[in-house]
Amino acid sequence: MNASVELRPMQIEDYDEVRNLWEAADGVGLHEPSDCREQIEYYLQRNVGLSQVAILNSQIVAAVLCGHDGRRGYLSHLAVTKDFRGRGIGKRIVTECLQRLSEFVPGCNIRLYDDNTTGTEFWSALGWTLTGVHVLIHPTESTTTVDD
Ligand SMILES: CC(C)(COP(=O)(O)OP(=O)(O)OC[C@H]1O[C@@H](n2cnc3c(N)ncnc32)[C@H](O)[C@@H]1OP(=O)(O)O)[C@@H](O)C(=O)NCCC(=O)NCCS
Repeated sequence: MNASVELRPMQIEDYDEVRNLWEAADGVGLHEPSDCREQIEYYLQRNVGLSQVAILNSQIVAAVLCGHDGRRGYLSHLAVTKDFRGRGIGKRIVTECLQRLSEFVPGCNIRLYDDNTTGTEFWSALGWTLTGVHVLIHPTESTTTVDD
């Protein structure tokens, strides 16, 4: 169905286009400074080849951040452009990330807002299960703020 949709690793040069995609997508929470260009560049350098974008007619129609800490994988900010949802692109990009992560770690976590019903249906359809673990957060320096 998505013969003309191609996946490739995200590069920092994709940042502006991907950022626009994330900003237009309900269910993706963007935070500063965590999601600024410099921080995303650092993330991509630490997790080479894992984060993916989906391209259709030279346009990025989906993106996800993917990385691991040596023990668990993490997917963040998965989004598919509204016009291209329901065509299997989200499933395909997640499957690609899991395949790449399987070289390094045995499992993968995501963060999902409680009120994200579309996301809940999507992850559930793909076989992901809730853990019941709460996510807590704290800034690394007393002078900064950080939220999630
Ligand atoms: C969630 C999102 C990424 C799904 O992408 P998508 O390309 O539309 O999903 P797919 O077409 O690959 O669907 C994969 C499966 O999920 C199911 N699914 C997807 N969206 C669904 C919805 N709104 N309701 C019910 N099921 C849904 C599909 O039925 C499909 O199931 P199947 O494999 O059994 O056929 C997309 O809706 C999106 O970008 N949402 C906004 C951002 C967001 O919430 N991201 C998640 C952050 S945690």
